[in-house]
Parts: sequence; structure tokens; C-alpha cells
Amino acid sequence: MSERQRPTVPLQGGGEGRLAPGTTQNPDLYERIQVEIAKYPNRRSAIINALRLAQEEYGWCSPEAIGEVSRAIDLSPATCQAVASFYDMFFLQPVGTHIVEVCTNVSCALMGAGEVLGALEDELGIRDKETTPDGLITLRTVECMGACGWAPMVVVNERYQEHFQPEDARALVADLRSRPRTTHGHGH
Ligand code: FES
Repeated sequence: MSERQRPTVPLQGGGEGRLAPGTTQNPDLYERIQVEIAKYPNRRSAIINALRLAQEEYGWCSPEAIGEVSRAIDLSPATCQAVASFYDMFFLQPVGTHIVEVCTNVSCALMGAGEVLGALEDELGIRDKETTPDGLITLRTVECMGACGWAPMVVVNERYQEHFQPEDARALVADLRSRPRTTHGHGH
């Protein structure tokens, strides 16, 4: 399929999820995606950046977020959803204000990631891939984050916490609970 020209008139409104390519219900996000598209010879190459922006906006890759990316980048919602599902960094379910990620790959596992995860689960009262009932904190395990030399690794709101120990769980959770709540995350 040939490359489409950049849509010139992003429109608002229309039926839920039934907008045509090049239209938007979120003009600000649409424009930011266009800035990313302009960096590539093929607009569809910007899909990862577009998904990131949409996730920042909506808090997760919600149907609305996927719809905006789909129309801005001219790929089907199913394709955008499939790309999002391939990468760990995209959330396919609603998440809390704070995201706590525990690497459980080999290096971290050997250095005690299982105990770290258990300590965080106990402190939060939830299990892997769950969010606290108040919607504040999501806990999830992730694959190697390329920081094996600092195992066990925990990432909090995209910031690395090196050599995290089970006994660090209590202070971390207390700190997160003391921070102001934000609508979409991931309160740094
Ligand atoms: S195995 Fe945990 S960061 Fe690589």
C-alpha cells in the first residue's frame, strides 16, 4: 500500500471508535504523534513512539488510545493492538498511578528476585500483575531490563532501583503511598 499524505484536517467528534483515518478526538495527542511521524520516511515506523505518547495520555493502551494511534498512523486498530501486546512497556489493562516492576529473569532470579517479589506482594497485599484496590500501585514481573550487573533489579515508575532487597519493600511502598496521586501515571 502506498504511503498516505499526512492528514491536513484532524477532525473532532464522530461515533465512538468509528472515526476515519486522519481524524481525532484528541487533537493535542494527534499533533504530537504527527511530530513523531515526521521523523521517519514511513509514517507507520513511528508506531512505537505513537503508542508511548498515547499510553502517557490515557494511562494505558485503552481502546481510545489504540484508536487514536490507529487513525493518526493509518494502521488498523488490530495491528496497533498487536504491536502494543508485543512489548512489555505497553499496558493492555488499566494500571495504577505507580508501577513497580520486578525483573525475574535468570540473573535477578539468582540474586533473589523471587524473595523481592514476595516481599513486595506481602507489603502491597496483591500478587503479580495486580493493582492495589485503591488504584495506586501496580505490581508486575518483567523480563531482563539489561541491568543484570545490578541484580536484583526493580523499576519504579521507569526508574531503576539497583540491588533491591526484600527489606527495601516496606520503605518503597510507604514512599509511594505518600506521594500525591495523579490521574495517569506514573507519578515520578
Ligand atoms: S536478568 Fe534482571 S536485569 Fe537482566
